[in-house]
Amino acid sequence: MANKPVLAANWKLNPTTAGEAAALVQGIVEAARNQDRVTVAIFPPFLWILGVLELLEGTGIELGAQDCFWEPSGPYTGEVSAAMLAGVCQWVIVGHSERRAMGETDEVVARKAGAALAAKLSTIVCVGENQEQHDAGQAAQVVTAQVGASLAQASADDSERLVLAYEPVWAIGTGKNADPEHAYKQMRLIRDAATKLIGPKAGQNVRVVYGGSVNAANVEQYVELPQCDGCLVGGASLKADEFSTMIRSTAGVYSAAVQ
Ligand code: 13P
Repeated sequence: MANKPVLAANWKLNPTTAGEAAALVQGIVEAARNQDRVTVAIFPPFLWILGVLELLEGTGIELGAQDCFWEPSGPYTGEVSAAMLAGVCQWVIVGHSERRAMGETDEVVARKAGAALAAKLSTIVCVGENQEQHDAGQAAQVVTAQVGASLAQASADDSERLVLAYEPVWAIGTGKNADPEHAYKQMRLIRDAATKLIGPKAGQNVRVVYGGSVNAANVEQYVELPQCDGCLVGGASLKADEFSTMIRSTAGVYSAAVQ
C-alpha cells in the first residue's frame, strides 16, 4: 500500500519549557486521532523528544527529530546520531534551510540523509531556492542540483521512507507562501530529479511535500495539488487550535481524493 500523505510539525527552537511542549501535544491529539487519512508527525527539539514520546502513546501521532549526525557514536560533542534516534522515533528532518544557512553543505546533508535512511528512519530532506535565486529565475536549477547532491547516498530501497520537502527559503516564516502553481512546478521537478537518481518506480513512491508559511487558511491549496503528499509546517504548528484545523482539512482533502 502506498504511504499516506504527511502533515509534519517542525517546532524548530520552540517551545521553551517541557510544560508548553506537553500542552501543545495535548492540544492536537484529538484532531489527529479522529482521522486516518494523513500521517501526523511532530518534530520537537531534541530535549523534549522523550517526554513527548510518552504523551504520544496510543495517539497515532508519529515523532521525529529536526536533525541528526551521520556517525552512529563516538567523539562528536553535542551530536545526536540517526542510529540513536532510530530507537526512539520514526522520523528525522535533514538539510533544513535554517541549518544550510548555518553552513551545512549538500555533502553534509547527503551524509545525514544516508545515515538516516540506513537507520530506517522516515527522512524528510529539505530543498528550496532563496530569494536571490528565485528572482534570478534559478529556482528550477537550484532545487534540481540540491536533490541530486543531497540524495547521493539514497537508493530505490529507501523510497518508502524518503520525503522531499520543497521549502523556498523566501517563504519560510515570512507569511509569503509560494504561489501553488510555482510550488507544483517545483515539486514536479523535485520528483523528476529523485526519479533520475533512484529509478521510475521508486521515484513514484517518494513523497513530495510543500513548506513555507503554510497555515489553516492556505493548507488546502497545497494538499489539493496533484502529487502533493502533504506539508511541512513551522509557525502554525505551534498553535494547537490552528494545527488541529489543518489536520482536519488536510484529512478532508485526501479522503475526498480517494473516493
Ligand atoms: P513556517 O511554516 O513558519 O514558514 O516554516 C516552514 C518551515 O521551515 C518548516 O520546516
